Amino acid sequence: MELRTPLVAASGTVGAVWEWAEVASTSAYGAAVAKSVAPEPWAGRPPPRLAPTRVGMLNGIGIQNPGIGTWVAENGPRLGGLGVEVWGSAVGESAEGFALVAKGLEYAGVAAIEVNLSCPNLDDGVIFSFDPEAAGEVIDAVRRSTTLPVGAKLSPDSPDIVASAAACAEAGADFAVLTNTASGFGVSLETRRPLLSGGTGGYSGPGLKPISLRCVYQVHRALPGLPIVGCGGVMTGQDVAEYLMAGASAVELGTLLLAAPSAGGRVLAELVEVMDRLGCHRPAELTMAAD
Ligand SMILES: Cc1cc2nc3c(=O)[nH]c(=O)nc-3n(C[C@H](O)[C@H](O)[C@H](O)COP(=O)(O)O)c2cc1C
Repeated sequence: MELRTPLVAASGTVGAVWEWAEVASTSAYGAAVAKSVAPEPWAGRPPPRLAPTRVGMLNGIGIQNPGIGTWVAENGPRLGGLGVEVWGSAVGESAEGFALVAKGLEYAGVAAIEVNLSCPNLDDGVIFSFDPEAAGEVIDAVRRSTTLPVGAKLSPDSPDIVASAAACAEAGADFAVLTNTASGFGVSLETRRPLLSGGTGGYSGPGLKPISLRCVYQVHRALPGLPIVGCGGVMTGQDVAEYLMAGASAVELGTLLLAAPSAGGRVLAELVEVMDRLGCHRPAELTMAAD
């Protein structure tokens, strides 16, 4: 897979992509990932589902989505002409469910599939990323259901991120997305209640960066042949350069796009400035020398 720039818009922060493309220029991106979709409709959690924290934010959306059948009918015809490649994101409760969604996404015309093994907001949901064997089973089922490139999106809370990534690569993942949100919690002094209806939720934004960056570094060192898409807390082109240096081949922007949907152009220009300063002509040249 080749991306025209190393920037990717992260799942859950750009809708089904076409809504975002109506208000933001897509030319800075190599790809944009649609919100995760499940085999059947999921209502998601009741409000409040978003809460700012002093640094970053918490979300507990619970992957509200219309189910793959409706998703394909509503969004399939709108995937083209957006000026950016669209990746789909599959979620489910079983390997078969993930595979069904992947088939639907391919039918709809996405260019690649992220397998969301790592949502922290599902009340009864298994976080497949925590268990290398379970993660591998899901990737294996998805791999058999599609010819598209498949990426395993893992949790920064995984007890052994290298083992989870290795199991996914072994099962046929073409790349890893590191990482999803971390499990977090906030409470209101006024209401004496959790900030989110579900209690805990996903923490994203600048505070996540050192943790996701650590995952990229560890997985790249252990599995240098596995392409990595870094994700977590990217706000600037310098952040992107740090992810590339730690071993990522591309980098996703998430929370930043909720605040500033058009930030990609600025981030890309900053990345070019950093590359010029460091005398690099291609993003891949930034990758840290192995010691
Ligand atoms: C409101 C919100 C919704 C999200 N929904 C999804 C989702 O549906 N699927 C998914 O894989 N990740 C989802 N994420 C996680 C992001 O794609 C990204 O992995 C995470 O926010 C970390 O990156 P960031 O710090 O740049 O936001 C969501 C994040 C936010 C803030």
